[in-house]
Amino acid sequence: MELTRRQLLAGVGATTLAAAGIYELAERAGRAPSRPEVTARPPEQHVLGGLRVVTDNNVEVVVPPLHHEIVTLRLPAGGPADLRDAQRRLAQVLAGLDQDYPSSPAGLGVTVGWGLPYFRGAVAAPARDHVPIDRRASRSAGHPVSVLLDAIRFPSDTSGVLLEQNDAVLLLRSDNPAHIHDAHERLVGNLDVWQPTSIRRGFVGGGFDGGEGLPHRLAVAAGVPGADLIPEQAELFLGFTSTQKASLGAERIANIETLGYSDGGPGGYFRQGTTMHVSHIFEDLESWFLTFDDRQRAATVFGPARNVPEGTLTVSQGKDDVPSVAAIRKDASRYARIGHSPAIQQTSRLAVDVVGRDGTTYAKGTAVPIRADFNTLDNPFYWSADPGRDGVSPEARAGLHFVVFNPTSDDFHRNRMAMDGVLPGGRRLPLAPRDPGQGFNSVLTTTHRQSFLVPPRRHRSFPLAEMLQG
Ligand code: HEM
Repeated sequence: MELTRRQLLAGVGATTLAAAGIYELAERAGRAPSRPEVTARPPEQHVLGGLRVVTDNNVEVVVPPLHHEIVTLRLPAGGPADLRDAQRRLAQVLAGLDQDYPSSPAGLGVTVGWGLPYFRGAVAAPARDHVPIDRRASRSAGHPVSVLLDAIRFPSDTSGVLLEQNDAVLLLRSDNPAHIHDAHERLVGNLDVWQPTSIRRGFVGGGFDGGEGLPHRLAVAAGVPGADLIPEQAELFLGFTSTQKASLGAERIANIETLGYSDGGPGGYFRQGTTMHVSHIFEDLESWFLTFDDRQRAATVFGPARNVPEGTLTVSQGKDDVPSVAAIRKDASRYARIGHSPAIQQTSRLAVDVVGRDGTTYAKGTAVPIRADFNTLDNPFYWSADPGRDGVSPEARAGLHFVVFNPTSDDFHRNRMAMDGVLPGGRRLPLAPRDPGQGFNSVLTTTHRQSFLVPPRRHRSFPLAEMLQG
C-alpha cells in the first residue's frame, strides 16, 4: 500500500507531532545560502557538487545542506521478474529527479543505499560473487571479509541499541525543503517497489552568515531541555563546528576503490561506490552544557592540550593537528581526558602518504570519512512503521542522525572503536568507553544503527537484479 505524506502525517504508524510543527518552522526559517552553479553529475552518489566553503576563525569550513531526510525501506516479496521491473521503475524516477535537480545543496542530493538483507535475500546469487571483498580487513581477519558488514554494538553503546535490518535507505539533502518533499513523493509516496519502515528528518547549520543557526532556533522553539544553552550561531546542538574542510574526506577518497581496500568487485561493478553507516544518537544537552565548563567542552572534543579561547566554535583540524597515540596517552594520564577528534583521528586520517587508484597523492594526515550527519528533534524517528519497537514518542528530543561514508564498513568500525578508545590491533586508551573524559560519549545515547552499500550512480537501482535468472 502506498503511503502519501498526508497519510503518514494522518498517523499511519506514529509521527512525533511536536517535531512536525518544528520542521515547518525549520522550512520557513532556513535561509538558503548562495551556492556556486553546478552542471556536472559525478558517478558517485555520495559526492555533492556546489558545496560552499567559508572561513570561520581562520579555518575553512564546508557549509552542508540545511535540510535532510532519511527513509529506510523494506521490499515486498517478489520474484526475479518483479525485481527487474522494480529496478526499471526506480531507475526511471531517479533519472527524472536528476533531470529536475542539480546534484548540489541548491538542487537535491539523492543517495540510495542497500542493506545486507537485500544482498542476502533478493539478489543473493549474484551478490555472492559481486559484493566486493575488503582486502585490508581480510588480511587482519585471515579470511575474506566483505566491504559491507552487519552493524555491531560498540563498547560505549548501551544494551538497548537496535541493529536494524532494512533492505534499503534513501538520503535526501537540500537547502530547499520543497525539493526533498518532491523527491519523497516521487520515490516513496508514488512508488510501490518498496515500503518505508522509518522517516527521519533534520537540519544543520544556518548560522554561517552571522544569523541564528537552525539548531539553536529549533531547539528553543521545541522547548527541549538545555536549548537556550546552545550557542546562537552553532552548526550543531553541541556547539562546535564539525565540518572543517580538513577533517572531511574529499571527493573520491571514500570510494571503495580509491585507497586500494577493494577493486570494486568483478568488472568493477561497485567502483565509485562507497559504504554508509546510519545511526540515531540522543544528545543530553543539559549534561553537556551544565556539567562541562567551556574549557572542558573544548578539551572533550579537541583534546586537553589544545588551547581553545572561550566561546570559540570552530577549531582547526589540519593534517598537522593530528596528535600521536603517545601524546593522547600522556594527556589522558595528566588530565583524565581524551578528545573526540584526537582519538578518532588515529584511524580516520592517513598514517602515510598514499597514491590513490585515481592517481591523486593523498598526504599523511588526510581525512578519509565523509560525514553527513545532521541534528534532529525526532524521538527517535519522525515516523516509524513499528513505533513500539522503535520507541517512538511524540515529545521532541535533541539528537543527531549520524551518517558517514567510508570506503568499507570495517573502516567505519575502526573509527567508531577509536572513538571508544580502542585502536587497531586492540591497543586501548586508558579511559572507560563512557567515562566523562572519553570524548562526547557520556552525553550520547545511540538507539539504532545499520550499514549500507552505496553503489555508483549507474547501479543505484536494485543493484545486481539484472543478473537474476528466471
Ligand atoms: C552527537 C554525536 C557527535 C557529534 C556532536 C560530533 C561532533 C564532532 C565534532 C565537533 C568534530 C570535530 C570537528 C572536526 O574535526 O570536524 C567531530 C569530528 C569527527 N567525528 Fe564526530 N561527532 C559525533 C559523533 C560521531 C560519531 C558517532 C562518529 C563515528 C565514528 C564520529 C566521527 C567523527 C570523525 C571521523 C571526525 C573527524 C575526525 C578527523 O578529524 O579526522 N563522530 N565530530
